[in-house]
Amino acid sequence: MLALLEAEPALLWDEELTVCVPKAFASVPVLPSQRQGTNMADNWPLRSYLELGALHGAVPCARLHTRQLLWEWRLSEMIDNVELLVSELVTNALHASEAMRQALPIRLWLLSNNVRLVVSVWDGNPRPPVRMNVDDDAESGRGLVLVDALSDRWDWFAHKSLGGKVVWCELSREAVEATPGRDPRTGR
Ligand SMILES: Nc1ncnc2c1ncn2[C@@H]1O[C@H](COP(=O)(O)OP(=O)(O)O)[C@@H](O)[C@H]1O
Ligand SMILES: [Mg+2]
Repeated sequence: MLALLEAEPALLWDEELTVCVPKAFASVPVLPSQRQGTNMADNWPLRSYLELGALHGAVPCARLHTRQLLWEWRLSEMIDNVELLVSELVTNALHASEAMRQALPIRLWLLSNNVRLVVSVWDGNPRPPVRMNVDDDAESGRGLVLVDALSDRWDWFAHKSLGGKVVWCELSREAVEATPGRDPRTGR
């Protein structure tokens, strides 16, 4: 149960955790997952939400956040792959947001149960992502091909309450560890 503290309006008192948390945490949008493919992650214990302005700095911010978070979650062997997935999905979300008249944020959720990890990225553009069939010379259209290759599965769904859509992908620790060319001792 959260109550506003009079002395410190930027903070809320969380009675369950008995700590002050930033007021903004009270309005973290819930990632709707029912029957959208990501419902397995609903009760996963490791959860992070980051809201980014749709500006060019969003991509490096999202990458750095991902690296730091996965280190904190002791999922170091997944860092390189997840950072790449986040980079592709946030870059696409940025381009999709730039095409909108309204200035809307980009929302990034990272969820994990220590074995599997889901990356979900929301943008306000209702247009769906389209995986291209690219040849060797193509200069664009490789992002979702890479997402397809690095994750176990990916998909998207329209977000009913926020509008726009969520593009998400899921990968497992085992699959990353088994990537050919990876040194299992260093994870690189
Ligand atoms: N979040 C998104 N919103 C709208 N369209 C998207 C989104 N992500 C991808 N797309 C569409 O899918 C296409 C393929 O994306 P991608 O494989 O990343 O290649 P690229 O970004 O180089 O065009 C994009 O050109 C775009 O038309
Ligand atoms: Mg792209």
